[in-house]
Amino acid sequence: MASHNLLLLPGDGIGPEIMGEAKGILNWFGKRGIASFETETALVGGASYDACGKAISEDTMKLADQADAVLFGAVGGPKWDGVPYDARPEAGLLRLRKDLGLFANLRPAICYPALADASSLKRDVVEGLDILILRELTGGVYFGEPKEIVTLENGEKRAVDTQLYTTHEIERIARVAFDLARTRRNKVSSAEKRNVMKSGVLWNQVVTKIGKEEYPDVQLEHVLADNCAMQLVRWPKQYDVIVCDNLFGDILSDVAAMLTGSLGMLPSASLGAPDPTTGQRKSLYEPVHGSAPDIAGRSLANPIAMIASVGMALRYSFGLGEAADLLDKAIANVLATGTRTKDIAEKGSNAVSTQEMGAAILKELESLA
Ligand code: NAI
Ligand code: MG
Repeated sequence: MASHNLLLLPGDGIGPEIMGEAKGILNWFGKRGIASFETETALVGGASYDACGKAISEDTMKLADQADAVLFGAVGGPKWDGVPYDARPEAGLLRLRKDLGLFANLRPAICYPALADASSLKRDVVEGLDILILRELTGGVYFGEPKEIVTLENGEKRAVDTQLYTTHEIERIARVAFDLARTRRNKVSSAEKRNVMKSGVLWNQVVTKIGKEEYPDVQLEHVLADNCAMQLVRWPKQYDVIVCDNLFGDILSDVAAMLTGSLGMLPSASLGAPDPTTGQRKSLYEPVHGSAPDIAGRSLANPIAMIASVGMALRYSFGLGEAADLLDKAIANVLATGTRTKDIAEKGSNAVSTQEMGAAILKELESLA
């Protein structure tokens, strides 16, 4: 059995609490002989700033670079509001994304039947929903130059952001989208605004070409990004994989996330380019939510987003799709029995703690395996 090397970065706030439950899951797969993990734990975010004055140390960056995958909790909190901009907790995550070249951000939106009534949409619109938003994460208008505010001769100011994509950047994210679709329902929807943006024209052309030449078996459709936002709320089940640039992906993934209820349920993955010789990708897995300082240290956090992030690591970094399916099934079954942390419990009903939710999922894994 291959051993996988994981770097655990719990971070701040509820990060360490939910990471504790993720570790329990990893240990279970190890004990069961399904997969073996070697883990190392290091500081990131505010915890790292307190220890060494930086949101992530060079030593930790080196560990991240050497690891098969990084599991990341969450960073930040009011305690570090006053720290210098470059040392703020979030800088640790941005550095990891940039230095590891994590250009592909996967945000699944899955609606567990037991939680379909928690959505603000009607049950039949969201029940059984299982879509994936793929967001380009290292290019586009958040990074393009020039990016500045200049004062004009007449004293007015002018702000500029630059939406910029190269063929190479679009090709590699398109390939990730088509590869993912092949493991799912074989459909890619590419969202851009070719009607008003040159980058949208190029995006459309490149995705079309990659689809035709390399993935003729995968269904490809093009949708204008604003229409995509409408469709996500109207009838999201028409989609399988939606691929889009950094800006549209930021917005569309948040729309998709809220189709299904709580922030405490949503995992994510960020992947780099495959190594030309080994095929291995750099990768980081994290819940979508932040450090939740309002509930930190009180065992109130829902660990499912973190645990489901472990599931994504099994699937996308370690080729353990069956183990990932088993974990997803265990989570769904536990929810079906009515076990709820406070964030997903109905008002007035009993809620379990972070640790009790983790234990319930372990127990269910044990009975499924
Ligand atoms: P947040 O996601 O931390 O919290 C928003 C709300 O959702 C809070 O009421 C919180 O209690 C609740 N919540 C979040 N995760 C939960 C969970 N697992 N279980 C139960 N309830 C949960 O976002 P907020 O409050 O805007 O930011 C708090 C801190 O987190 C800030 O310092 C922010 O910069 C940082 N942050 C970090 C991120 C990361 O590490 N990737 C992402 C987003 C925010
Ligand atoms: Mg966002």
